[in-house]
Amino acid sequence: NMKALIVKDKNEGGKEGYKVFADALNNGAKVFGLATGSTPVTTYDEITASDLDFSKATSVNLDEYVGLGPDHPQSYHYFMQEHFFSKKPFAHSYVPDGFNANEKVATESYDKIIDDNPIDLQILGLGQNGHIGFNEPGTDPKLLTHKVKLTQSTIDANARFFDKASDVPTYAYSMGIASILKSKKILLEAYGEEKADAVKAMLEGPVTPDVPASYLQEHDDVTIIIDEAAASKLT
Ligand code: F6R
Repeated sequence: NMKALIVKDKNEGGKEGYKVFADALNNGAKVFGLATGSTPVTTYDEITASDLDFSKATSVNLDEYVGLGPDHPQSYHYFMQEHFFSKKPFAHSYVPDGFNANEKVATESYDKIIDDNPIDLQILGLGQNGHIGFNEPGTDPKLLTHKVKLTQSTIDANARFFDKASDVPTYAYSMGIASILKSKKILLEAYGEEKADAVKAMLEGPVTPDVPASYLQEHDDVTIIIDEAAASKLT
């Protein structure tokens, strides 16, 4: 069951995203799955400017680069601190531990965190190629939290943010598609024309590993907030 809401732009989308969080919180949601990237920022801005109280709630983030500690400005820990937690703290906030080089421990302990804190509402962005989290096309949909090798294009795109090439992360830890689908409710936002193909494939295409977001069709409570540009290829 997917409900799509088409808004004028990402500022209006942020107001709608805020309402989804506020409704969930008011209906007893205790665990919020969070994402980084540019997409959720307008929603986070509305939330952090509001009087919503997350001080008894828990947050669980989707992903983190392997090798970056929480103080690294390119880490997702840092992003979350900057855009959300410094302004609106949770009782507990979990992000995969990018500093743990032991893949098995890092991923299994994160799955345990998710099992102990079942996600009531998960917010997602959408990659231009249909990825969710770091689940790129071709990812096995049955995977839970796992280590991902970043594509060369992602590595190249990140290089400008780092002093030396050896600092650029080549791996990430990410919740899997199966971890994401365990969330009780899912909110996906997508803005801009460059997301239009992925939005169409997600909503109107077959469920396929080629489009990781297409698995959301199998979830029973998904809200999609998209702007007119991102909706422009829907039939
Ligand atoms: C972020 C994440 C990614 C982004 C996606 C869209 O934690 O997992 O899947 O949601 O790459 O990125 P933006 O929002 O920057 O367009």
